[in-house]
Amino acid sequence: MAEFPDAVRIREVGPRDGLQNEARPVPLATKLRYLELLADAGLTEIEATSFVAPAAIPQLADADDLMTALPRRPGVRYPVLVPNERGLDRAEAAGAEAIAVFTAASDAFTTRNIRMTVDESLEAFASVLARAGARGWWRRGYVSTAFGCPYSGAVDPARAVDVAIRLLALGVEEICFGDTIGVGVPPQVRDLTARSVDAGIPLERIAFHFHDTRGTALANVAAAMSVGIRCFDASTGGTGGCPYAPGAAGNLATEDLVYLLDAIGLESGVDLDRVLVAARFIADALGKPLSTKVGQAGGWDPRTGAATGRR
Ligand code: COA
Ligand code: ZN
Repeated sequence: MAEFPDAVRIREVGPRDGLQNEARPVPLATKLRYLELLADAGLTEIEATSFVAPAAIPQLADADDLMTALPRRPGVRYPVLVPNERGLDRAEAAGAEAIAVFTAASDAFTTRNIRMTVDESLEAFASVLARAGARGWWRRGYVSTAFGCPYSGAVDPARAVDVAIRLLALGVEEICFGDTIGVGVPPQVRDLTARSVDAGIPLERIAFHFHDTRGTALANVAAAMSVGIRCFDASTGGTGGCPYAPGAAGNLATEDLVYLLDAIGLESGVDLDRVLVAARFIADALGKPLSTKVGQAGGWDPRTGAATGRR
């Protein structure tokens, strides 16, 4: 499999992106247990919550309590989303050490999601990223709607790359292109990657966040891997999406991603059976059946032919 890098970083986004779009309130203790099960599964980068306006995302209104109570597992990074300086103050008081700022490739989306144009958001992030950088925090910048916007349609890839370059200039360590409504396809993924590299963005500073809204997420992962991308976001149990992106249900499920990587022979350090334990836990907590592919079928043991990790 020389065409693929041999190790892949998975950024688990279930507790943040997964839960933010779920209507049923999840108690703090349940969130903490979910975070524990995710770390047990070997996930070392777990987006824990968002320090956004509680009215915007009620499900994550307990971010201060969560980050204060969360036992930090050695070797695990727990980044949080921050939209402004107020969010940074809260994150700092709660002991966060890694943040993500989030904008998009379309003004129509950012004006609904964060009530700023893309330009305004980059202005607002400058001080946030500078302060976080001065503290030595790890910083990521999301470029949502990188392939398409629910309010303005197709997105020019040059625009997504331009926003990425500007985020990097503000100090982020990593760019994450988000397919917020799951409309991207493999040729677009390869094209956006090539344009980014041509613009001077190193491959190892690019991550992708694919939604499986239309069933294209794993095809897009494979396309990205074939051009050297090594970091993907995924949500255990496949929950979530963005409440400001109609129909954005269905993050790429961590269990589906881990199954693919294991079967190809790519190291992620994540244990599929244990991911399935966490996936069932959060599905039960949300009162939903676990509807992801591997959540239903389990893994597969080629020595016996039997499914693995099922209840
Ligand atoms: N934490 C807590 N409260 C915050 C806050 C933060 N980081 N930022 C703003 N607020 C509060 C303000 O104090 C104000 O409260 P009040 O109404 O009680 O006075 C209210 O939120 C509105 O503040 P304002 O500065 O006018 O922000 P806004 O209404 O222009 O909204 C955002 C901008 C970015 C704060 C808001 O849209 C937001 O949090 N969006 C996040 C959306 C999201 O997380 N989407 C999913 C991720 S893809
Ligand atoms: Zn998502």
